[in-house]
Amino acid sequence: MRLAVLVSGEGRNLAALIEACASNKIAGQIVGVFSNRADARALERAASTGIACRVVPHLDYPDRAGFDSALSEALDELHPDFVLLAGFMRVLTGDFVRRYRGRLLNIHPSLLPRHPGLHTHRRALEAGDLEHGATVHFVTEELDGGPAIIQGRVRVEAQDTAQSLGERVMQKVEMKIYPQTAAWLARGELRLHEGRVLRRDQALQSPLQLEHLEEDFR
Ligand code: GRF
Repeated sequence: MRLAVLVSGEGRNLAALIEACASNKIAGQIVGVFSNRADARALERAASTGIACRVVPHLDYPDRAGFDSALSEALDELHPDFVLLAGFMRVLTGDFVRRYRGRLLNIHPSLLPRHPGLHTHRRALEAGDLEHGATVHFVTEELDGGPAIIQGRVRVEAQDTAQSLGERVMQKVEMKIYPQTAAWLARGELRLHEGRVLRRDQALQSPLQLEHLEEDFR
């Protein structure tokens, strides 16, 4: 199973994926890491483990379509089975999304459909949410709107700041649910079919939850 990971920033999700591949929890390999920013810390993490990295700077292209086609050309050279967005901070065009339909996934730091878009931790606090979390979903043309595969929840504590809440979501949820999802993908257990997620050929009625994590990913 060949995985490509698209990043823009810190790369904690990427690190969790790298670790899970290295310890054979995911029956696959990360064949390339792509960033729109040359200064992404994620690139250092990838390079230090010998993974091929490629920067496609979005500012080099006049528009989204130009950037996306350069990105997909670079991606396709590596023949990925799945493309995982892991803190990739660019909105992708419909053409790009359709090209990788069913093979393109994202992790979003909220309990979708609550809080699509940016600043999710702050918005969860401002809304007085009692729980918050993260979601892995197939990417469709609707921003942060594709069918959800798995979500993980944490309690919002009275003393939480956006930073403390975000950190808990990252450690307790994101770094577990994305590697678990990749492991399922590598085993051929997940599919997007007519707008629904199939797990072992059964349509999910609702997203999987932390209790569905396998031992290796808890
Ligand atoms: C994560 O919270 C991810 O859900 C969101 O962007 C953040 C990226 O963090 N899309 P990192 O680069 O994985 O550390």
